[in-house]
Amino acid sequence: MDSKEQVTGRVFESAYMQWAKTRSRARFNLATSGVPGFPLADLGVSLQDLEINGPGGYGYTPLREAISAEYGVPADCVVAGGGTSGANQYAFLLLLGPGDEALIEFPAYDILPNLALFTGATITRFTRRPENNWAVDPEEIARLITPRTKLIVLTNLHNPSGALMDADTLTRIGEIAARNGAHVLVDEVYLDCIWEQRPRSAFLLGTNFLVTSSLTKVYGLSGLRCGWIFAPPAIAQRLWHLIDLFDNIPSHPSELMSVIAFQRLAEIRERSRRLIETNRGIYRGVASVRGFEVPEYGTVAFPRVLETNTTPLCELLREKYETTVVPGEFFGMPNHLRISLVTPPGVLREGLGRLEAALDCID
Ligand SMILES: Cc1ncc(COP(=O)(O)O)c(C=O)c1O
Repeated sequence: MDSKEQVTGRVFESAYMQWAKTRSRARFNLATSGVPGFPLADLGVSLQDLEINGPGGYGYTPLREAISAEYGVPADCVVAGGGTSGANQYAFLLLLGPGDEALIEFPAYDILPNLALFTGATITRFTRRPENNWAVDPEEIARLITPRTKLIVLTNLHNPSGALMDADTLTRIGEIAARNGAHVLVDEVYLDCIWEQRPRSAFLLGTNFLVTSSLTKVYGLSGLRCGWIFAPPAIAQRLWHLIDLFDNIPSHPSELMSVIAFQRLAEIRERSRRLIETNRGIYRGVASVRGFEVPEYGTVAFPRVLETNTTPLCELLREKYETTVVPGEFFGMPNHLRISLVTPPGVLREGLGRLEAALDCID
């Protein structure tokens, strides 16, 4: 038998995800984007609260109702997804296919364009520019949209910049999409870290919006894989039927723990708020000296730090200073770095000090 391994088939991958899973760990890891894990012991779950198997069917009713109540979205518009990742997968698979086109923000979390390509669709990018506070220009979308465009994809808050998109801009994008028979998908996984007057979910802005989110980034509950899609009822029904092909049913212990998490969501969010506000202050100190932008919201900052590609700086930082940040090239903006605002404060302070030392070293 030939000992050479045969690898066949199409290759789909995310360079960022591979880096995050194999190269981002470090003593001072400033490459994260989700708040550190919420301890199971603090969730107040007892074994009596749990059961292995649940009722099955299309969604665990207490969980759908909890999500519905938290976001003011009717329960028949709430579909379960395995984290925001699963939610995005299902939405993309349902709404895109060969011959279709997706308009996707640039820069973006690289799973989003890769997922669209996986469906067989083509992608076109519209640009969010730092000099314009990373805003989306609906006019640009109006120029780029074609009869083949089926989906416009945004993150709000924006990953990597943390920029918030206002309801008026979203509504205008929704109208442009509607005139072309397209949907708008807004990934809101970071939106809950607007502590006061959280904007309403974009789902409530028009009948052609879909929204994805989860308990991952803002709540530190990634391991529950509790995610959801908000979709108009007819699409929600089709999403449930699509899910039959992939997952059948979710993990019931996870559903039960997620219901408990929703009961204590305000408290969990308050823990995150304290951490992020402390860290924003620490980051602001360094940013003001270095001329880095300070995002108003969100769990990360994405400053432009060099005139050249930051990847060698990131290597130096990792090898000599035991510190990681995300190289901007994973977002197609190589002069930038993505810096976590959700590490323990001591780690952020020390990691930023090391980043400054590395910057001085290469100057
Ligand atoms: C915009 C965006 N969506 C989704 C995810 C994945 O979220 P989840 O852990 O809920 O699958 C990430 C993770 O970095 C993200 O940045």
